[in-house]
Amino acid sequence: MAHVSDLISSDIEQYLQAHEHKSLLRFITCGSVDDGKSTLIGRLLFESKMLFEDQLAAMEADSKKWGTQGDDIDFALLVDGLAAEREQGITIDVAYRFFSTDKRKFIVADTPGHEQYTRNMVTGASTADAAILMVDARKGILTQTRRHSYLMSLLGIRQIVVAINKMDLVEYSEQRFNDIVEEYGQFAEQLGLTNITYIPMSAFKGDNIVEPSPRMTWYQTDKYKGTTLMGFLETVEVDDTRMQRAPFRLPVQWVNRPNLDFRGFSGSITSGMIKPGDRIRVQPSGKESSVDRIVTYSGDLEQAVAGQSVTLTLKDEIDISRGDVISIADAAAETADQFESTLVWMHDDALLPGRPYLLKIGTQTVTASVTDIKYQVNVNTLEHTAAKQLELNGIGVCNLSLDRAIAFDDYQTNKDTGGFILIDRLSNTTVAAGMLHFALRRSQNIHYQHVDVNKDARAQAKSQKPSVLWFTGLSGAGKSTIANLVEKKLHAQGRHTYLLDGDNVRHGLNKDLGFTDADRVENIRRVAEVSKLMVDAGLIVLTAFISPFRAERRMAREQLEDGEFIEVFVDTPLNVAEERDVKGLYKKARSGELKNFTGIDSAYEQPEAAEIHLDTTRLSAEEAADQVIDALRQRGIITA
Ligand code: ADX
Repeated sequence: MAHVSDLISSDIEQYLQAHEHKSLLRFITCGSVDDGKSTLIGRLLFESKMLFEDQLAAMEADSKKWGTQGDDIDFALLVDGLAAEREQGITIDVAYRFFSTDKRKFIVADTPGHEQYTRNMVTGASTADAAILMVDARKGILTQTRRHSYLMSLLGIRQIVVAINKMDLVEYSEQRFNDIVEEYGQFAEQLGLTNITYIPMSAFKGDNIVEPSPRMTWYQTDKYKGTTLMGFLETVEVDDTRMQRAPFRLPVQWVNRPNLDFRGFSGSITSGMIKPGDRIRVQPSGKESSVDRIVTYSGDLEQAVAGQSVTLTLKDEIDISRGDVISIADAAAETADQFESTLVWMHDDALLPGRPYLLKIGTQTVTASVTDIKYQVNVNTLEHTAAKQLELNGIGVCNLSLDRAIAFDDYQTNKDTGGFILIDRLSNTTVAAGMLHFALRRSQNIHYQHVDVNKDARAQAKSQKPSVLWFTGLSGAGKSTIANLVEKKLHAQGRHTYLLDGDNVRHGLNKDLGFTDADRVENIRRVAEVSKLMVDAGLIVLTAFISPFRAERRMAREQLEDGEFIEVFVDTPLNVAEERDVKGLYKKARSGELKNFTGIDSAYEQPEAAEIHLDTTRLSAEEAADQVIDALRQRGIITA
């Protein structure tokens, strides 16, 4: 199998040609953290001689120096080897490893970190033809094995190898192998996973990786029709043309306009094929045209297929921007702004329904929130359970609401136009991966009703500029007191106002909510919606809620027009609020009688750029209220 270095040194042309015509298998490896995934990848690279001789020699020398090593040391050596390889610029990609044998080329998702790993599994690795599920023969089927199996079934990965590894540590026991096969088989059946191949192996010792293991001759009998892992990878069937046969989709990456005569739409074709003259539909706008030219760096094409990056020009001038999807007109994608989807949560901070996240699908990024967690899946029992939030590694079926319509396909039909990730808007980290199922019918059946008496008309009748004064601060900071004084002053001037106060709203509209993070998010979401309606009614609205999280204050702000939302930070340090303790709640919180109390065992995220900052250690309530009134005057909210 030392074909690479031999051929490269003897005849590079011949090598490249042989390489070109080999089929490509994309696969991923998964399983628990130390089931030997990294050892296996190292072993595959080693056996296919993709590591250069001097690196191998160095690794071998090092391994001798370390003596018999466990997985960790082995992995460290391998990583060193691979890092050296990277520096030499040999590796194609950091996240994906490439290797080949005489028969085939391979790309394996190589992602040691657990978190990115799940992410890759759901997004990048959704293109995998096969998955190797690593099981430690000593430990058997673990929760993580089940979770990854569930993900594989969600992702629609067609071929699965259950690699029962570390057989050397269970005396190559046929019985142990059979026990695991039986246990896994029952679970896989419930998931509807078929096409499973079980291979007993030792990645470390090389048993059943390339050569049939002489230590497990029982596996070579008719009963098991034993195959080696490399044998499986080299022969498993790959359907390369599946995506080419699907309807044409091109998520637009950028609009190419070098001069006034040329307007092209560039991106990578995710499915199907296209020819000049084909009728297309731009989504979500729904406008149609025909393809004029397919432009590439090496000239115009007569036809282009999935996987190619191209620039299309159209026969008509229509508005297209980044994030739009160009579909073939007679089998276009769907468009909607509400969906059912499966979410795989990948962050320590739980998913909170109602909180806005960024949703990235194809080349489009929109704002989305979960309106309902229909159920969470217990990956061990596959039971559906009710959930108010999704924790790290939680998998749930959720309804999503977006701030605008997007083009999409259901994930099972098209992974590129049906798969997405969610990103936290403040930290910019990926928090979930998801798969779209279908559009919610209500999103197609509810339209905005035009009304003739609008916000401007109502504001004019009241001779004022509607706005929201959003007071935020710790419990006992003085929000209600100051807001109350401000309202009195505005009222005395003949302004039309309304004060929404935490304690009062929680007795009515929000009486079903408590003080968990999820409930606080919902509390503020409702208050933001009500405030928006009241601003629409032409009122000056005052809200007095702790509103401890930046994300929801930002959401409230974004619901309104520029200049309508005025954040008022009632800045009272914790020790001062605690000393006042008007309601005696801090005392209860300190004694443990009251849980999740803001400032004690629940977070308060201070505003970073509030329009009005009130330092209550220096101002009386009356002075603070005057400061607010002054600020409103300066901003033109009130004139007198
Ligand atoms: S928020 O966090 O969801 O914005 P909100 O302003 O509605 O809170 O309610 C806060 C008021 O509820 C406090 O002023 C206090 O009187 C009362 N309260 C009861 N339990 C808690 C708690 N665990 N944390 C904070 N406030 C609480």
